[in-house]
Amino acid sequence: MEERWARRLERQEAIVEVRNRFLEKDRSLDRAAFEEVFDARTLLTIYRLMKRGVIDDFYGVISAGKESRIYHAKNRAGEELAVKIYLVNNREFRKGRLEYLVSDVRLGRVGGSIRKLIYLWAKREFLNLKQAYEAGVPVPKPHAVIDNVLVMGFIGENGQRYPLLRETALSVDEYADIYRKVLEGIATQYRRAELIHGDLSEYNIMCGPSLSVYFIDLSQAVLIHHPRADFYLMRDIRNVNRFFASKGVEVLEDEEFFEEVTGRRPYELAV
Ligand SMILES: Nc1ncnc2c1ncn2[C@@H]1O[C@H](COP(=O)(O)OP(=O)(O)O)[C@@H](O)[C@H]1O
Ligand SMILES: [Mg+2]
Repeated sequence: MEERWARRLERQEAIVEVRNRFLEKDRSLDRAAFEEVFDARTLLTIYRLMKRGVIDDFYGVISAGKESRIYHAKNRAGEELAVKIYLVNNREFRKGRLEYLVSDVRLGRVGGSIRKLIYLWAKREFLNLKQAYEAGVPVPKPHAVIDNVLVMGFIGENGQRYPLLRETALSVDEYADIYRKVLEGIATQYRRAELIHGDLSEYNIMCGPSLSVYFIDLSQAVLIHHPRADFYLMRDIRNVNRFFASKGVEVLEDEEFFEEVTGRRPYELAV
C-alpha cells in the first residue's frame, strides 16, 4: 500500500518537474495552452525518457504543427536531438491514416482508441526511420520511441536546424547537384530500405553543408509491397520533378525517373 503511494507521489513530482522545465523552455505556450497540448501521460513519458538518459534537457521548440510539436534537445552524451511529440488530444487525427496502418505487416492487428492509433503512428515513423537509416538513406538517426514521443537525431548544428529545400536560394548548378542526390536517396530508400516516402517534397527535404540532403517526416512512408506503392512513388517523383524544374534544372521524365529508381517501367497509373 505504502509503496503504491510512494510511486504515485513520485509520478506527481515527475509530472510537475517536467511541466516546469517545459514552461521555462517553451515560451510560446502559456500555462493554459500547455495543458491542452501536454497531458499528464505525455509528461510521464518524457520523464521516463529523461530518467533513461535518452533525453538530458530541452532547449526550445523547433516546430509547432497541428499534429505534433518538435523540440530541440540533447542526450546525456551531448548529442543534439529532435523530439517529436504527437498531440494525443488531436481530434483531427484522420481515420484515413488507417489505410497506412492496417496494411503494415510490421504492426500486426490494428485497432483501438485514437490515442492508441497515434502511438502506433509514432512507432511506425520510428520503424520507418530505422529501416531507412540502417539502409543508408539520409534520414535523422532514430534514438527511441515511447508512446507518442519520438526521439531522433537533430538535422542541424548548435541548435540551428538546416534549411528545408524550399527555404534555399541556390544556383541552377547547385540545384542540379541536389536533384541527383535526391534521386539517389529515393533509389536507396526503394532498393535497400524497401520504402517509399509517400510525402516527399521541398517541405520534407532538408539541405545541409556541401549540398547534402536529408529526408524527414517518414510517418506515412510505406513498404514497397503496399498495394498503392507505385502510386505513392510516382507522386513523390512528380513533386520532386516539379520543384527542380521550377528552379531551371533539366529534370528526367517522370517515367524515366521511376525506372531509375525501380529498374522497371511504371504500370499504367491512375492519377
Ligand atoms: N530531425 C530533425 N532535425 C531538425 N529539424 C527537424 C527534424 N525533424 C523535423 N524538423 C523540423 O520540424 C518541422 C516539422 O517536422 P515534420 O516531421 O515535417 O512534421 P510535420 O510536417 O508533420 O509537422 C520540419 O519542417 C523541420 O523544420
Ligand atoms: Mg513535414
